[in-house]
Amino acid sequence: MHKDPLLHFMRKKISIIGCGAIGSELALSVDGDMAKNVALLSLFDIRPDNAETVKSKLSNNDPPIFNDFSDYINSESFKDVELVIEAASQNALTSYLNQLILSKKDVLVMSVGAFANSEFFSEVIKNVEDNDVNIYVPSGAIAGIDALKSVKNSISYVTLTTTKNPNSLKDSPFFKNNNLAVDSIKKRTLIFEGSAIEAVQNFPANVNVAALLGLAGIGVEKTKVNVIADPSIRINKHEIKVIGKFGELIVRVKNIPSSTNPKTSYLAILSAIECLRSITTKGIKYGT
Ligand SMILES: NC(=O)c1ccc[n+]([C@@H]2O[C@H](COP(=O)([O-])OP(=O)(O)OC[C@H]3O[C@@H](n4cnc5c(N)ncnc54)[C@H](O)[C@@H]3O)[C@@H](O)[C@H]2O)c1
Repeated sequence: MHKDPLLHFMRKKISIIGCGAIGSELALSVDGDMAKNVALLSLFDIRPDNAETVKSKLSNNDPPIFNDFSDYINSESFKDVELVIEAASQNALTSYLNQLILSKKDVLVMSVGAFANSEFFSEVIKNVEDNDVNIYVPSGAIAGIDALKSVKNSISYVTLTTTKNPNSLKDSPFFKNNNLAVDSIKKRTLIFEGSAIEAVQNFPANVNVAALLGLAGIGVEKTKVNVIADPSIRINKHEIKVIGKFGELIVRVKNIPSSTNPKTSYLAILSAIECLRSITTKGIKYGT
């Protein structure tokens, strides 16, 4: 733990909600090479054992652990927090985000799929404006968001084709909604075609990237998504095609899944870490 009060004052004070695949790696980075710039003031997880596991690996921070949201936001440690990192779930984001914003905290959001709910998202936008905070949404498991934002007013067409092993998709409401057994998929099959908003509803834990593409580009209604289940692959593939007056943008990402959560790509973890690093350090910013 840094004892120097000046250093403590200068460091960006953060807190993490969700200590799973993303939250735990982020915490370790904060405690490691970001320790000079970032202080981890608290951890919140509905499974305190997950938070305990993360805490036991830290050397430069000693954050208190919470497993109840009300205790968490009413705690002494929360008062000093400047930036909250959400790496929990869409439900968590929907339940907590507006209260975090009303508490004047900046928030780095990983469960961006929740923003596909237009009612929730409108409330978030209003609260962000009224409370003068920033919401950071990392590019996560895909690439090309920088270019998509730049051309968003001259796009005629955006498609995301996501290919995953059926096991990575198995808990999705899509299978229940369509009375389809995951095990019945024996070969590469296009199982879903629809808008980004429908994709997020059917595969909430898998296609956060669909919502992000929609929000950064031409909207979640107009952005088209295909989901392919392929039992022969172990990676998560995302192929993005954007066509417009500017020309064409084609991005293909072949992601290695995280070792602890096969639904989450390792790139998404690295993207969250890089986003935090960019927020908390001064200097030359590439690709912003
Ligand atoms: N934007 C992207 O590209 C992208 C990529 C991958 C994952 N994600 C999303 O990021 C989030 C985290 O992913 P992960 O792989 O770390 O998940 P994970 O399942 O490995 O970890 C989630 C952690 O959050 C905790 N949690 C769940 N609900 C909670 C709640 N209501 N309150 C507090 N804690 C809660 C869980 O106990 C768990 O420890 C997920 O919503 C996931 O869909 C986004």
